[in-house]
Amino acid sequence: MAYERVCALSDVPTDEALGVTIGEYDVAVARHNDEVYALQDLCSHAAVSLSEGEVEDCSVECWLHGSRFDLRTGKPISFPATEPVATFPAEVRDTPDGSYVYVDTTTTLNGVTPS
Ligand code: FES
Repeated sequence: MAYERVCALSDVPTDEALGVTIGEYDVAVARHNDEVYALQDLCSHAAVSLSEGEVEDCSVECWLHGSRFDLRTGKPISFPATEPVATFPAEVRDTPDGSYVYVDTTTTLNGVTPS
């Protein structure tokens, strides 16, 4: 495990994802209630950033063709995408300076190899 601090929790909007670069990967960080999630910032349908889409009901919508991906599993829940996107472990750590989001891109939660 190699968690890296990527942003303050307050940087992550509640209705859209935040695009960050961690090492070699672009990652979309999103939140739902008190949980944070990190997905590879790349739609599995075409080369489009998921972080530019809307977040709602623990899913993010691809702005291009409208597939929604579950933040927990990375799986599409609507067409046209059919393949999951890689999901990375993410957590919030509270420090005396505030709450920060940490993500580990050395492994994935859903077994999908990031592209
Ligand atoms: S590019 Fe994302 S659904 Fe088509």
